[in-house]
Amino acid sequence: IDELLAEGVAGRRVFVRADLNVPLDGTTITDDGRIRAVLPTVKALAEAGAKVVVASHLGRPKGAPDPAFSLAPAAARLGELLGSAVAFATDTVGDSAQETVAGLADGQVAVIENLRFNAGETSKDDVERGAFADRLAQLADVYVGDGFGAVHRKHASVYDLPARLPHAAGFLIATEVGVLKKLTEDVKRPYVVALGGAKVSDKLAVIDELLGKADRLLIGGGMAYTFLKAKGYEIGTSLLQEDQIPAVQEYIERAEKTGVELVLPVDVVVAPAFPDLATKAPADATTVTADGIPADRMGLDIGPESRTLYASKITDAATVFWNGPMGVFEHPDFAEGTKAVAQALLDSPAFTVVGGGDSAAAVRLLGFDENAFGHISTGGGASLEYLEGKTLPGLAALED
Ligand code: 3PG
Repeated sequence: IDELLAEGVAGRRVFVRADLNVPLDGTTITDDGRIRAVLPTVKALAEAGAKVVVASHLGRPKGAPDPAFSLAPAAARLGELLGSAVAFATDTVGDSAQETVAGLADGQVAVIENLRFNAGETSKDDVERGAFADRLAQLADVYVGDGFGAVHRKHASVYDLPARLPHAAGFLIATEVGVLKKLTEDVKRPYVVALGGAKVSDKLAVIDELLGKADRLLIGGGMAYTFLKAKGYEIGTSLLQEDQIPAVQEYIERAEKTGVELVLPVDVVVAPAFPDLATKAPADATTVTADGIPADRMGLDIGPESRTLYASKITDAATVFWNGPMGVFEHPDFAEGTKAVAQALLDSPAFTVVGGGDSAAAVRLLGFDENAFGHISTGGGASLEYLEGKTLPGLAALED
């Protein structure tokens, strides 16, 4: 983007592919981190006199307009953060988008409606995706890729559109890639990775990769129970991905052979049922040892001894990557594990990276100062796939 700004963008229509996929409660944005993350790029372009067209997906609508997934709240928030009115097009490539973009003055910003209201955006068919990219290309003279959270998607606005316009990477993508390179090239050791979240299946590829890279792997969240089951423990009614047990057993064996420290919870916080996140009513939570989960109880967080253990594994690290909450942090009875890991990252002198929408949102919702962490990535799947060593379509498209 520096080169683009030096070349001059005044009067040019610049398409910024952002990731404004923010969590919503109705039309209220509960965490605006992703909108704030793209501000430097949008501001720099607007200040340089560009007509800025911001585009993003939000959620997973089914290729047709769906008011529940409108980007209108994100557009309004972007306007508040910029301190100037942001125009909003009620479609993506139709009359509203064309008129809105045509009406932009130099230095003005518009947001077009959710890219995924169009089947062409996510189509697996190159021709259909290409046709949609052609229509998007008519809205702009230049493309800036800055939606780091979506660079792992081979979607029209991420992958096909940059091939049709002069293109550059925005400030956010440059920062994110710079940070993740520190984890993949010549990482400072001990390198500790804390992984949580619900499903082990989402993390298999990264665990596979990290078993050869990290010094310690701390496992929490819903996926920990598949590990405990694979070790032969009874896990009551806790989340289990039975089909993943063989893969997990192989990881446990491989960790032993390669000397990677694979750390599992030694105690867990359990309750009779999944808690009510709306009322946050007390959930009858108790702590049990990891090998003593009663048949009628569900594990929902790592316990106090595990918190101390995990913190001790983080404190003397040189590099820490954390992805995924340790428990159901949205409920106060099960937030302590996630808090403890976040606090350990802050207490450690290590270079710390928090990856993923959920953990980033958890950090902010639990009241931590996000600026105190080394880096909070806006990409969940994207940062994991980067660490897996995969080629990310949205980065490849910007490279040439
Ligand atoms: C994310 O939330 O990780 C990104 O916005 C990508 O969203 P997706 O998983 O729906 O493609």
